[in-house]
Amino acid sequence: MSGKVLVTGGAGFIGSHVCKRLAAAGVAPIAFDSLEKGHAGMVRWGPLVRGDIGDRSSLIKVITEYNIDAIVHLAGYIEVGRSMREPALFHDNNVARTAVLIETAESLGVENFVFSSTCAVFGTPVTARIGETHPFAPMSVYADTKLAVERLLAAPERRLKSVVLRYFNAAGADPDGEIGEMHDPETHLMPLAIDAALGFAPPLTIFGDDYPTPDGTCVRDYVHVEDLAEAHLRALAWLDGGGANAAFNLGSGTGHSVRELIDATSRVSGLPVPHSMGPRREGDPSSLVADPTLAAKILGWTPKHDLDAQLEHALRWRRSMPR
Ligand code: UFG
Repeated sequence: MSGKVLVTGGAGFIGSHVCKRLAAAGVAPIAFDSLEKGHAGMVRWGPLVRGDIGDRSSLIKVITEYNIDAIVHLAGYIEVGRSMREPALFHDNNVARTAVLIETAESLGVENFVFSSTCAVFGTPVTARIGETHPFAPMSVYADTKLAVERLLAAPERRLKSVVLRYFNAAGADPDGEIGEMHDPETHLMPLAIDAALGFAPPLTIFGDDYPTPDGTCVRDYVHVEDLAEAHLRALAWLDGGGANAAFNLGSGTGHSVRELIDATSRVSGLPVPHSMGPRREGDPSSLVADPTLAAKILGWTPKHDLDAQLEHALRWRRSMPR
């Protein structure tokens, strides 16, 4: 594959890793980011164009100036809790502005589009592992917005071809230590557990231990950000090679509980993880584990990094992270 790919949210956690992976494969990434949440310092493998996905004139300019062949769309608000407090803002940012992006791309003849979605579109699972045919039952406004975009992309009149990638829990950091997770506020378990161990954050609160799981804490499927980046490259290659619209659930197929993650953080770092027990967090399903069979079959994608590797790389990044 070659060509020029616009990566919206290219200055963010997953977007920056996507840019690095594309560049390594000889594809030129153009990061398009408002920098409201992203960090200019994470854009190292191509130009950064500052702009908003809802701003049609900025989009026309960047797409024509760089002669963009395909778009990887990761820009969006991600905090589940905030989405419940500010639903209109999330719909505007994640859905209405994405509609502008899709329609502008289509009007300019862009053919291929890879969209960053989430396993949260499935809600509480009705099967032990979640495959692509699992019914949709989003439990948050955030998940609603991701599903709404999936539906926009699947509309029959759509000329754009698309792959939807539904991430389970993105974690880890660049194995070379160049980029990593830098959310403000940070709400994700792995960086919070690491920061608690390193003394950079207060003790971790476990959100409930009365779930119907082996140790009572929630189970999640953690997937290394570098593995996710690889999936974007493969999705683009799939579309480029004439592949049809598709959606893939991206996880390892193995779940880890919050307690297991705390124990693993302690083992890998050699430090205790100070923590206490708190109440459940609203909207947390007890267990979310992917069935990644389809991605393996169609894209040849299987995650390479296990939980310990995710922790090692995230630990190295958190220790060196600009503060
Ligand atoms: N958790 C704690 N304490 C914390 C933070 C998290 O116990 O301080 C628990 C949560 O309750 C959950 C697990 O750790 O059981 C993982 O929580 P994260 O916030 O790290 O991740 P989520 O599973 O809630 O959310 C992630 C992504 C979302 C995505 C969602 C899909 O961040 O963008 O997966 O379920 F939508």
